[in-house]
Amino acid sequence: MNNNKAKVAVLVSGGGTNLQAIIDAAKSGIINSGEIALVISNNPNAYALERAANAGIESKVISKKDYTSASLFEDALIAELDNNGIDLIVLAGFMVILSEKFTSHFADRIINVHPSLIPSFCGEGFYGLHVHEAALAKGVKVTGATVHFVNEIPDGGKIIMQKAVEVQEGDTPEVLQKRVMVEAEWKILPASVEKICNSIINN
Ligand code: GAR
Repeated sequence: MNNNKAKVAVLVSGGGTNLQAIIDAAKSGIINSGEIALVISNNPNAYALERAANAGIESKVISKKDYTSASLFEDALIAELDNNGIDLIVLAGFMVILSEKFTSHFADRIINVHPSLIPSFCGEGFYGLHVHEAALAKGVKVTGATVHFVNEIPDGGKIIMQKAVEVQEGDTPEVLQKRVMVEAEWKILPASVEKICNSIINN
């Protein structure tokens, strides 16, 4: 696959600031070994879909509500990704836990960004703002973000990159969430996408 760019699909559910960070990194050349070929949202109202449209990237809505089972929903996701010849799947605020059927179909080809330093504040139930609420409730002084491979264990795959962020006096979950995004997620996610795409095209 040398001389080509890896085809990247970004799976989203909400605001899509991490998707935006990947789009911007592809424009600025930080991501050089991959191109965003497809955005998939499970939520038809996700603002991330507008970000994809603004960047001229094809997008699809595949919603659980349109399928009678989680398994059929995953079949639809798998078919869409396979039909587009996707090399790397990036979960960027994708609020669906994927089963082993999905994760083993794309073994070592799915990465996720999580807003804590795994193994703290991760696993089922730890997503979005809840992660920062839990970090503040525990009183940790340092938190951060992690990019990791996705396997059948929620937030349990091999770690690719992490970055620490300081908690400050008086932080609210919202303030902390934003600092973790700006200082960690929006940096290590694009860097990880480049790293993995580079290893895909050179193998
Ligand atoms: C991000 O903070 C991401 O790390 C988190 O949801 C937010 C999505 O924001 N993901 C998880 O909690 C996954 N367990 P975004 O839609 O603006 O990128």
